[in-house]
Amino acid sequence: MNTERKIIIIPGDGIGKEVTNEAVKVIEHINHSSCDVVNYEYFNRDADFYLEHGYILKDSDIKSLTDGVDGILFGAIGDPRIPNMEHGRELLLKLRQSLDLYVNFRPIRAVSNCYSPLKENRVEGADMVIFRENTQGLYTQVGGSVAGVDGTQAAMDTAYYSTHSVDRIIREAFEWAVANDRRRVDLVDKANAVTNIGQLWRTRFRKISKEFNHIETGEHYIDAYCQRMVSDPRSIDVVVSSNLFGDILGDLGAGVVGGLGITPSANINPQSGIALFEPVHGSAPDIAGKGIANPVASLYSLALLYDHLRLDKWGKRITAAVDEYLQMASSHKTPDLGGEAGTSDVTEQIISLIDVS
Ligand code: NAI
Ligand code: MG
Repeated sequence: MNTERKIIIIPGDGIGKEVTNEAVKVIEHINHSSCDVVNYEYFNRDADFYLEHGYILKDSDIKSLTDGVDGILFGAIGDPRIPNMEHGRELLLKLRQSLDLYVNFRPIRAVSNCYSPLKENRVEGADMVIFRENTQGLYTQVGGSVAGVDGTQAAMDTAYYSTHSVDRIIREAFEWAVANDRRRVDLVDKANAVTNIGQLWRTRFRKISKEFNHIETGEHYIDAYCQRMVSDPRSIDVVVSSNLFGDILGDLGAGVVGGLGITPSANINPQSGIALFEPVHGSAPDIAGKGIANPVASLYSLALLYDHLRLDKWGKRITAAVDEYLQMASSHKTPDLGGEAGTSDVTEQIISLIDVS
């Protein structure tokens, strides 16, 4: 049966453009090898566009990113010429909030022991999944710069959570755990110091967990949990956390299994079905333009996008090819994984491993 899908591609800045370009090679390869065609259109908004036009995303643009669109593939946004990242917030945070992409899904697997800074027996088999609340918390831009009571300048950013937003991300974590045969869901917070939000999350977590009584639960403070993620990552299963803590845990977990070059993510609204897929990493200005960015995180993100498009056959095949590439001692790796290969060499090797039968 012929299937056609339409996606939007937003490469963004720096290595966002480079790794997304590699993902497009994989889409093209599958388009040419099968009847499952993914059509794509570019939405080329980046730092250059912002510097020229003074904006990056208008409310009126959003319709074109969603009408008749089955998914969005994103690279990364961030440019040293715009140090306060206002264009990044206007693009990515605005998309997450206006499209209400409240689930930030970050799977972190130790596909091979070779890339972890930890001893092999500590990391082997680690398979953590983080559900980060993606629309509220400290990211709502509620706050300001004021005159402080001591006469100096002061600044505040207020974290905000409603039971509605907390409930839906907790429920999503449990439902995913059930659907994927997972054993345990941990809530990670700082409820001993950030008490109001902490109590809200813990109360809702306990209430919702009763509906899933065969799933074990834990409530943990972020500081000790970070320590555990490094010392015993294999003990971590499914995690649900706030916008800020989920972000930090995602990068920490990436570091544990081999770095930002290999971990994907999805931003999803399960009700509307709108979803945006992106590597966890940023635009990496330190290596941008050198042709050495690792495309693996973007290719795993592409696999999640194929799953979302209900072309999970390809999601599985891309994932299997990337896994095999990472596990093959003889394959050529980019410098972040200790090799000397360039970005496109990696994609070439991975494409040769994708089963197109
Ligand atoms: P980053 O993730 O861009 O880079 C951190 C370090 O990891 C750098 O040394 C970089 O070279 C390395 N790295 C990241 N991805 C890599 C890859 N695929 N292959 C090889 N090495 C890789 O984080 P950083 O430096 O904090 O931020 C840079 C810019 O990106 C900033 O403007 C930041 O605001 C933005 N950013 C954007 C994100 C997004 O678009 N979702 C997420 C995180 C940061
Ligand atoms: Mg991050």
